[in-house]
Amino acid sequence: MKVDGVAYRSVWVDPGDSWSVHIFDQTKLPWALEIVRLTTRDQAAHAIKSMQVRGAPLIGAVAAYGLCLALRGDASSDAMERDAAILAATRPTAINLRWALDRMLIRLRNTRAADRVDTAYAEAAAIADEDVAQCEAMGRYGAELIEGIAAAKPGQRVNLLTHCNAGWLATVDWGTALAPIYKAHDAGIGLHVWVDETRPRNQGAALTAWELGSHGVPHTVIADNAGGHYMQHGMVDMAIVGTDRVTRAGDVANKIGTYLKALAAWDNGVPFWVACPSTTIDWTVSDGVKEIPIEERSAAEVTDLTGRMEDGTIATIRVAAVGSPAANPAFDVTPGRLVTGLITERGRCAATAEGLLGLFPERA
Ligand code: MRU
Repeated sequence: MKVDGVAYRSVWVDPGDSWSVHIFDQTKLPWALEIVRLTTRDQAAHAIKSMQVRGAPLIGAVAAYGLCLALRGDASSDAMERDAAILAATRPTAINLRWALDRMLIRLRNTRAADRVDTAYAEAAAIADEDVAQCEAMGRYGAELIEGIAAAKPGQRVNLLTHCNAGWLATVDWGTALAPIYKAHDAGIGLHVWVDETRPRNQGAALTAWELGSHGVPHTVIADNAGGHYMQHGMVDMAIVGTDRVTRAGDVANKIGTYLKALAAWDNGVPFWVACPSTTIDWTVSDGVKEIPIEERSAAEVTDLTGRMEDGTIATIRVAAVGSPAANPAFDVTPGRLVTGLITERGRCAATAEGLLGLFPERA
């Protein structure tokens, strides 16, 4: 996607040296667009853990490149397995991280140590390119839904609601949930997006709002608790979110607060769609609530807020009562029964085992 007319991906190999890896430091957005150069496994692991990069597909791609960086130092089998395990341990919920590293290992275990670095870079590039293609395809399948709503209310704009950031910053390009929005907007459909701020880290207010604004998509940032109100008043035509892991039965793990939005959508008859590339499906689990590990993050993300002061400096302030403890589960699980459907790169399906197997029969 473009920022100030310049096309970017969210991760790329330095075109000059052909090995170091560039990312945007997403902890600095929306205040600054800072590019970070990664040269070691530990820098890649830090980028994922500290959420300089975040979003399920992107952390998979960065982990794959992190393994490339590690192999440059030691391409032996023992080191490779150790380094992959270190990268895999950075964040627990998004399955793309493990998927990408497993794919790298499957390819590299059958490769001579002397050839591993080149093979690893080729495989990481394939992971990144395939992610772009998958997101673009989800954009097309999801835009059809928005076009359908627009056709049913001629002359009126389509109101969408999204949670967290499932845009190009969360993937290699396009995004998952935001790809249909970009496609529909670019096709000339009049639309507007309610952007949940997404406490505690504010990925909606900071990242989604920045992305949509940079692309000229009309949007409004709302408090996380406002979505149900707008749904009750007929001001949301469709909710669309991304996901960090979907079970083979169609349960959806996504950023904390997604479940409450799905409940409100269910109660108000608002379609609730989840954009889910196949790399985010965990075919080994069925019951999302019982089986998906939920990352518990620092209490400081809840008690404190970071933002820009009037003089332009970035500051962190405490908003919770001094001394009060805080809990911070980063994700929740929405049962498939509350999900209208999944948008994948192969098309749309019900959020059920049958729906998913209809699109991915090879997983039966
Ligand atoms: O903690 P994050 O920011 O890495 O969470 C991931 C997300 O951005 C969301 O949960 C998103 O909706 C799914 S990733 C496309």
